[in-house]
Amino acid sequence: MSARVDALLERMTWEQKLLQLQIVWRADTAIQHDLARRGIGAQFWPPSVAAVNALQRVAVEESELGIPLLVALDVVHGQFTIFPTPLAQAASFDPAVAAADARVSAAEARANGVNWTFSPMVDVTRDPRWGRVVEGFGEDVFLSSRFAEAKVRGYQGDRLSRRDVVASCLKHFVAYGAAEAGRDYNTTDMSHRRLRETYLETFRAGVAAGAASVMASFNALNGIPMHANTGLLTGVLKDEWGFAGVVVGDADGVAQLVDHGIVPDEKTAVARAIEAGVDVVMGGSLLVDDDGVAVLTPGELSPARVDDAVRRVLTLKERLGLFENPYADERREVRSATAPARAHARAAASRCLVLLRNEGAVLPLARGAQVLLAGPFARSTDHLGAWVQSFASPVSQTLADALAEAMTDAALEVADGADVFAVSEEHLADVVGRAARADVVVLAVGEPSALSGEASSRADIALPAPQVRLIRAVAATGTPVVIVLATGRPLVVEDWVDEVDAVLVAWHLGVEGPAAIAEVLVGRTNPGGRLPMTFPRAVGQVPIHYDHESTGRPPRTGGRIQGEAHPGLAGPDNTDDYYTSKYLDLPLGPRFDFGAGFGYTTFALGDVAFGRVVALADLEAGATIDVRVRVQNTGTRVGDDVVQLYVRDEIASVTQPVRRLRGFTRVTLEPGDATTLAFTLGADDLRFWTDDGTQLLEPGAFTVWIDDGVSRVHARFELTQREDAA
Ligand code: GLC
Repeated sequence: MSARVDALLERMTWEQKLLQLQIVWRADTAIQHDLARRGIGAQFWPPSVAAVNALQRVAVEESELGIPLLVALDVVHGQFTIFPTPLAQAASFDPAVAAADARVSAAEARANGVNWTFSPMVDVTRDPRWGRVVEGFGEDVFLSSRFAEAKVRGYQGDRLSRRDVVASCLKHFVAYGAAEAGRDYNTTDMSHRRLRETYLETFRAGVAAGAASVMASFNALNGIPMHANTGLLTGVLKDEWGFAGVVVGDADGVAQLVDHGIVPDEKTAVARAIEAGVDVVMGGSLLVDDDGVAVLTPGELSPARVDDAVRRVLTLKERLGLFENPYADERREVRSATAPARAHARAAASRCLVLLRNEGAVLPLARGAQVLLAGPFARSTDHLGAWVQSFASPVSQTLADALAEAMTDAALEVADGADVFAVSEEHLADVVGRAARADVVVLAVGEPSALSGEASSRADIALPAPQVRLIRAVAATGTPVVIVLATGRPLVVEDWVDEVDAVLVAWHLGVEGPAAIAEVLVGRTNPGGRLPMTFPRAVGQVPIHYDHESTGRPPRTGGRIQGEAHPGLAGPDNTDDYYTSKYLDLPLGPRFDFGAGFGYTTFALGDVAFGRVVALADLEAGATIDVRVRVQNTGTRVGDDVVQLYVRDEIASVTQPVRRLRGFTRVTLEPGDATTLAFTLGADDLRFWTDDGTQLLEPGAFTVWIDDGVSRVHARFELTQREDAA
């Protein structure tokens, strides 16, 4: 600890210490200034540098101790310059995309006086009904962990006192994405093994990457609301992982312990939360009331715990350099997306699109083609996605504008009048008539940003029915149809996807989204994204994820088993394997798998080659197993392949996923070029958790798959106890 922090602690009264542990949510300027004068520790960003400096000046010059403020904002995928949503970024399978967002956003935010962002959200989830899937990096713990690390490092740089970085905040700790029924804020309940294996891991990775803070989640986990969960907030996060930063409660999360029914009142709630390991309470004035009186006495709240929390807050302020430089430089204020920032956002967006279907190579659009653009996203500006503040810069152009610019040598016609939730008979007839005369129809459809994000779970994750009507009517004309699918989550596309020729998932790509989509449509960009989340065939399959366990009744072949379909149901044609884990009314498996996607060229994967397969003891001592594979661009265009490495522990003392992602590389290759990619497998890649809280690494056979979303090669290696037996 620094001498300054110790000296301040010595001087602080009980009330002053408790005030440092509050950030009041929804406060107007007068209240913010009054709280700053009394010595509150943190505030939400007032919307200008002048306002931030005025507030900071009150804290520094008018309060007794002059302690500067933490100034916080949810800069989740941009402040003024909006990048693709985090789920879209994960589809790039390129953590450099997330790092670029974090770096550009941090510089923009710090220039505006923000020094603490409530981001990255690193909640793994396997349930696309949950609206907050859009804020995270999808269903896989390995992919999400790599993106969590990239964002923490991007936001924080090499030291927090830089004038272009902000303190990051891993959220929402923990297992928030496992809400039962996909309903936001709902109960979560799981085995210790599942908690460790799937939900805690991204936070462990983020803490190891140096995250300055962590936010507690709203959910109860195994009966203990996270804002009162001593075992995880203190036991795991602070004691086991050595986290020395700040734990901040979520908005009113402490007060909501009353609603959870574990405390009778807010006074008890805040005592329980601080003792459990929450350091800063976000919400009303729960620790010190509006008259400046401490709600709890030192006899009701441990002074040692309070001192520890205050130390964490003051240390973060010191690391941010706020004692030396509390004010933002008004000359560096950024009030809109700058051209360089837009360029970074566009480069990011171009890497996030996922091509899932392209029958007859209808994409890229043929030169000279007569193209009809229709659908509610044709002239929409709704590409920014969830977690966007009102001051964010709007998209610079619609898809219609961008496509007109990009299609230098073909004719574009735009059918206006579509709506996300409605389609008139006149509009339908108009589009169908025009489609019949076009060479190809691009239908820009999807889910508006408002249907994903916080408190935005959906029980039905299909496209709004009027859009499905439009798709099917246009497909019935026989003119090739390209679907551009804007969405905040995986959608059920089962009732139209086989009737169209191409499907390009465009997520919500941010301020430069339309331009990025247009470039892919005309082939100036070769799409290289892959799915970070499974697309189910039906919402009834959810939760559904690729790293499922085998069960004792898996399908006995690689997928569809020959035989008569069950009478009257569109189920799996596997009557000779009736007693397998399946649905009577659905084919086996998802519509599109995690990691799926392809582009405008083709790739060939060579055989898997292993380096020396070391013995188990060597792995435990830090040795690794090298895995190499050759990949070649066998097509006619430069393009990106996303080569993914999965492993399966074939026989283990607890059931294992049928495969787990343990490596991925996105590589760009010119036509005909080839390269050999190298992956390494270490003990951590092969260990697994048991439900009694231990991690095991066991000898035996492991299958390794190399998969690029289109083809798959695999091999096996034997992990033995001893070197000589290898
Ligand atoms: C919200 C969100 C959290 C956000 C906080 C502050 O309720 O759950 O992600 O950081 O409030 O805006």
